[in-house]
Amino acid sequence: MPTILAIESSCDDTACAIIKENKIIANLQANQSIHESFGGVVPELASREHMKHILPLVHETLSTANCSKQDLDAIAFTRGPGLIGSLIVGVNFAKAMAVGLQIPIVEVNHMQAHVGAHYIDEPTPEFPFLCLTVSGGHTQFVLVKNYLEMEVIGQTLDDAAGEAFDKAAKLFALPYPGGPNVDRLAKQGKAIFKFTKPKVEELDFSFSGLKTSILYFIQKKQKTEPNFVEHNLEDLCASVQQTIVDILMEKLQLAAEQTGCKHIAISGGVAANSGLRNAFTELGKQQGWTTYIPKFEYCTDNAAMIAIMAHYKFLQGDFASQDVGPLARMKF
Ligand code: KG4
Ligand code: ZN
Repeated sequence: MPTILAIESSCDDTACAIIKENKIIANLQANQSIHESFGGVVPELASREHMKHILPLVHETLSTANCSKQDLDAIAFTRGPGLIGSLIVGVNFAKAMAVGLQIPIVEVNHMQAHVGAHYIDEPTPEFPFLCLTVSGGHTQFVLVKNYLEMEVIGQTLDDAAGEAFDKAAKLFALPYPGGPNVDRLAKQGKAIFKFTKPKVEELDFSFSGLKTSILYFIQKKQKTEPNFVEHNLEDLCASVQQTIVDILMEKLQLAAEQTGCKHIAISGGVAANSGLRNAFTELGKQQGWTTYIPKFEYCTDNAAMIAIMAHYKFLQGDFASQDVGPLARMKF
């Protein structure tokens, strides 16, 4: 079985992992704090930060894994989707390193890798399973037939669930990234405020209206109580989180009915949310599902999930050619 070094650079964190004989033996990342003062990821800065971090990070990952470059059988990388300037750094680094070592390259789709995060630790889901992937850029239902055979059967028509968390956090003047802050404050609050839930057909989602609904609600309250947000921050966070989780769980139930799947998983950055993890586990018990949630570090962006997908692609001989380029809007 191969030893593969994997690079993930689709957004603002540079990540690198090594998989050896189907086990992750190193999983590191360099976070970019530079964006905090801008309240969101600045693509140009992200790209420059990747340039700074990638070489030292790769060295550190090799030494953590106690591996030499000569031990590697392939280099894997995220081809897309993501920020083009960020992807370019990882893709070109991987290609150059592979040329130097005269070993093959493996391209990985970032959204498929969020699903693949479930293949890292035992117990891995039984095929076929249904995965709800909720991240900062995507919200989708994926029917997973095999390690590499996946189909999107529903998705958001506008904003992603993570974006809904982040936009709500911005309205509450919480620092970026908003999702984890809303989660933290929600634990101290009660979901006493109600926001309108969107009506969307079948297995699709819509989250863009939620931001407007929250905005109008707080503007109305602020007319009589200027410090409404500051005074009700915990309850506001709990209410927003509850609304997003309810929307996700209602649709998940529908997706499970329609597909007949009993093995159900969640993945992506928002799967790190404590409210979602609890609600999903509860719903699973009620419905008699076998539920799967990745470890925290495999929910948010990481390179271990790229490495595990590359492992299965390597076994199938699915290598990329050296003229491969990044794809900001890579199809599933
Ligand atoms: O998967 P991810 O790390 O990157 C993308 O591929 O987008 O997801 C990032 C998203 C952000 O919107 C972030 O706010 C959200 O995941 N997130 C959370 C939590 N941790 C990360 N949202 C709610 N609660 C959390 N604990
Ligand atoms: Zn992601």
